[in-house]
Amino acid sequence: MRSLLRPVAALAVGFTTTTYAFSASTSFCAAAPHVPYISSKTAAAIDVSLMNPSASPAYTLPQLMELAGLTVSTAFHKTYPPSSHVLVFVGPGNNGGDGLVAARHLKLWGYDVTCVVPKLKDAFFEKLRKQAEDCGCEIITKEPREGYASLLTPSTVIIDSVFGFSATGPPRAPYNDIVPFLHSTTAPVMAVDIPSGWSVDSGDVNYTNYAPDSLISLTAPKLGSKGFKGRHWLGGHFVPKRFEAEFGIKVDGVYEGGEIVRELTPGGEGGEDVDGYSVVYVTAPNGDLAQVIASELVKSKTVACVNIIPAVKSVYAWKGNVEVDDEVLMMIKTRKERVGDVEKIVKKLHEYETPEVLVVGVEGGSKEYLKWLGESVDKRK
Ligand SMILES: *[C@@H]1O[C@H](CO)[C@@H](O)[C@H](O)[C@H]1NC(C)=O
Repeated sequence: MRSLLRPVAALAVGFTTTTYAFSASTSFCAAAPHVPYISSKTAAAIDVSLMNPSASPAYTLPQLMELAGLTVSTAFHKTYPPSSHVLVFVGPGNNGGDGLVAARHLKLWGYDVTCVVPKLKDAFFEKLRKQAEDCGCEIITKEPREGYASLLTPSTVIIDSVFGFSATGPPRAPYNDIVPFLHSTTAPVMAVDIPSGWSVDSGDVNYTNYAPDSLISLTAPKLGSKGFKGRHWLGGHFVPKRFEAEFGIKVDGVYEGGEIVRELTPGGEGGEDVDGYSVVYVTAPNGDLAQVIASELVKSKTVACVNIIPAVKSVYAWKGNVEVDDEVLMMIKTRKERVGDVEKIVKKLHEYETPEVLVVGVEGGSKEYLKWLGESVDKRK
């Protein structure tokens, strides 16, 4: 029987197999929590159901818009400090209404707020504008002579609440000036529901390269935001529980007590620090046995991920001789507190007398990856 307490002389050749629970089609160990994305059609259907007067919850539009706007302002507050100047671009419809409500809340929380409001749909939206103005928001109705860029200060963060999930086609006047400005500005932007100028269902189809810094998705993220790379928040705690199954919008986890937004970005709030993680090296005589062990480790949520590196040559001393073996090497990533359980499973399934179980501390890593790691491994029972 071979033993292993070997100095590692690892030579990786060929393809590395990676075993982890998240998705069989991804070839690396990194993933975000499962997030359902919805089409513009589903988003519209959810809105209709939320406001259906003859079925619960029968929200009125002003009620829903107040909740949506408060949600936007909350996500904004969690992303940007109150010392920021906020420049809100307000569209003609519900997305714009959310922006006006958010502007009012942000002003009351101490932000300096300017709203660009070129036109509004009806008296209800006029009331929202008036309320924002009464709270101290500056209202601008047309482009300044020097252009929108003249409204920027060094601390400005923009809210893009121009177009929402019912927008289609290229922007018409006066938004055909605002949207290109949003696409070209270097100021950070938080977009509401979908970056203006992106297709709600297909994303940045016209290659605007518009990449807002952050996004607040209301109710559920829209299909078009799938490729979104910035900080991503979800707000929809006002949506009845039964809608989750009805519209397929269940996201793992819950809104924490007192919170009306939750972060979808991997590595966002709630991320863990590196101290709690380890890498464990285990060698095996062949890939088949390594896969059996790896699958058991991942399936039982004892570890997050195992990379199986094939064609490793191991040179080691054994009973007075220099041995050379072909092996595979498993690189196992887990919580430090689960290392003992890893060893138990390895010893149970391994065929070596003394399998290598070598634990290496983690010194650093991307926040997103470490958060995923933490979420993928059960805590010690
Ligand atoms: C993309 O460009 C085409 C052609 O101009 C236009 O028909 C389409 O509406 C645009 N899509 C968006 C999301 O603006």
